[in-house]
Amino acid sequence: MYRGKKVAVIIAAAGKGERVGGPLPKQFLDIGGEPMLARTLRCFAEADEADEIFIVTGAEYTERCRRLADAYAPDRVRTVVPGGRERQDSVYNALKAVAAECPEAEYVLIHDGARPFVTEKVIEDVLEAVCDRGAAVACVPMKDSLRMLSDDGSSRAVDRSGYVAVQTPQGFRTDVIMRAYDMAFAEGFYGTDDAVLVERSGHPVAVVTGDYANIKITTREDMPMEIRTGTGFDVHAFAEGRRLVLGGVEIPWDRGLDGHSDADVLIHALMDALLGAAALGDIGLHFPDTDEKYRGISSLRLLQHVMALLAENGYSVVNADVTVMAQRPKIRPHIEAMRDNIAEALGIDRDRINIKGTTTERLGFVGREEGIAAEAVCSLCR
Ligand code: CTP
Ligand code: MG
Repeated sequence: MYRGKKVAVIIAAAGKGERVGGPLPKQFLDIGGEPMLARTLRCFAEADEADEIFIVTGAEYTERCRRLADAYAPDRVRTVVPGGRERQDSVYNALKAVAAECPEAEYVLIHDGARPFVTEKVIEDVLEAVCDRGAAVACVPMKDSLRMLSDDGSSRAVDRSGYVAVQTPQGFRTDVIMRAYDMAFAEGFYGTDDAVLVERSGHPVAVVTGDYANIKITTREDMPMEIRTGTGFDVHAFAEGRRLVLGGVEIPWDRGLDGHSDADVLIHALMDALLGAAALGDIGLHFPDTDEKYRGISSLRLLQHVMALLAENGYSVVNADVTVMAQRPKIRPHIEAMRDNIAEALGIDRDRINIKGTTTERLGFVGREEGIAAEAVCSLCR
């Protein structure tokens, strides 16, 4: 309720998200562990003012929306309404549902399902302006300079101080928005948003300060980056008659590390961190030591395989930090060559790779020179 009056909210989520692309419309893509539309729903479900929510979506996604409604806004979602070809068709369907099922609603807020970062402050500010003026939209000042293009290919600078970018929610007195939509459809007029129709019907629209964070996800670049962290740890024992390979660098030493592959403990820890961050298991799962094809293999090749797996799953590496625990030999003289090897395998700059060595002050199996341990931490972005 707002000032004692009932508020209906229409969430427009019937688009196909063609500019983002992919098999699922953008409103169902995952943002930080939950579907975009769930976030949008939560923004309104957590706002006291939003009494009845009407989700409008494609017929094939009705069930999916019902499940989201039950999980994220159980007592607020009134109906899931079938969408139409254009956003305006979808919103009109929802407006008719509001009129039929919630005729007592004094105000209607219309919001894009693809704007999952709207704040309660913007919702309240729009409602307050609607109370006073009957129609209001959230807008933000333009940040980029503007130019107007002409048909002949020329362009001229435009003073951006006179322009704002329009967001949602757009709020209206119910009678104002119904009249505007009825009129537009009677005349076959399509506009870019709800305010256009209201203005066209002769009712002025108030501008309310929106929020730069309240972006609409329109293209893939608008999707917030997800950062994930992983850790890895590995130990190999020393063995006579083996080469000592760390970070893909062969270090002259009287013994090497025992193992099925080249026993590069540093890269093994790193691979486990990478797989861990992507929730793709561990190296034992991907490269079982019972498989003959991995006997003696360079771990740098296994690392390339892990990178291909990450790429398939949409991840790239932000950075990695590895600590090698060895009493002897000294790691330091080889660190730069190791960083080069790893940076190349990961396809990133070497300043994103850190490698450090430590002794364990002669304590434990490392201190007794029985083996070498390595620990890695990495971040991935998706
Ligand atoms: N929308 C809708 N019904 C349509 C088209 C769009 O409800 N027929 C909704 C979208 O789901 C979105 C909002 O209107 O939440 C804004 O539209 P837009 O950003 O254009 O989304 P899409 O139409 O899904 O994307 P695209 O134009 O790239 O296909
Ligand atoms: Mg669209």
